[in-house]
Amino acid sequence: MSQLSQLPTSDTSPSPPLKGFHLSRSAESERLLQLTFPRETVDALLEAVAEWPIQALEYKSFLRFRVAKILDDICGNTLQPVLVSTMVDRDTGAFMVTPEGLDDVEQADDMVKFATAVAHLMGRSNFDAMSSQYYARFVVQNIDNSDSYLRQPHRVMELHNDGTFVEQDTDYVLMMKIDEQNMEGGNSLLLHLDDWEDLNIFSRHPLAHRQMRWTAPPSKNVAKDVFHPIFDVDTAGRPIMSYIDQFVQPKDFEEGNWLADMSDSLESSQHKVSLAVPTGSFVLINNHFWLHGRDRFMPHPKLRRELMRQRGYFTHAKTLRNPRQV
Ligand SMILES: [Fe+2]
Repeated sequence: MSQLSQLPTSDTSPSPPLKGFHLSRSAESERLLQLTFPRETVDALLEAVAEWPIQALEYKSFLRFRVAKILDDICGNTLQPVLVSTMVDRDTGAFMVTPEGLDDVEQADDMVKFATAVAHLMGRSNFDAMSSQYYARFVVQNIDNSDSYLRQPHRVMELHNDGTFVEQDTDYVLMMKIDEQNMEGGNSLLLHLDDWEDLNIFSRHPLAHRQMRWTAPPSKNVAKDVFHPIFDVDTAGRPIMSYIDQFVQPKDFEEGNWLADMSDSLESSQHKVSLAVPTGSFVLINNHFWLHGRDRFMPHPKLRRELMRQRGYFTHAKTLRNPRQV
């Protein structure tokens, strides 16, 4: 991993020196970078954008890019290059982002603003049909009657990519923890494709590039089926993936059993990264070569977790082909 060895840090950075944030490898994985914003940076951003409530960012798309620029300016314009280059770096492509001082659900709107600023330095977040906004906040509680595993706490949500059943490019996924009460377990699970023991077995199989049908349950507010293969390749010929177990509709015995084998293989990988995301922090990953999921929770009558997500496309580097246009 030659690029990882060149990772700049706040202590030993070449020019220009990083300003307004700290960058390091995470304790959980060499591929996952820890990006920490000290309180001074967080406060400076929130003060500079105080005139815009979150509704202003919802109504005026261009303001999302303006808050991004303000954050990058506070960071001496050293943040954007790190975000743009890391998100398409096959060796990493993932951050845990921690804005210090944002750690209480009362600050939820500020959390959304901060995450919006980071995301819009390298991308643009898509319309989210579940919320009819560019982001979605949702709550996990002890009892759930939804129609997918998204909000069901007592079971594993298996490894998957996002955006499998929509026609929008989904290059990145941002998942933020807004609140957490009475939680035990429920870590985020990540798997980098190049760490998956059986990647070659499945990505080179004849079914890997066959068009499959993808359909969503009613809560997703997506009425139309989409068709695409599970595997594609990036511009360097490396496998990328668009897969989720719950929404793929195999057409026959062969496809169904191949998918079941692949699900077993993914879930049994020894290289899954298990992450506890603190309140106010968020995971930001390249959605083409990282799979994500969630471990089970322990039941608790007062269990509550609130999350915020944004999914979108890269606006700077375009090193990946859109699988839907193959
Ligand atoms: Fe997901």
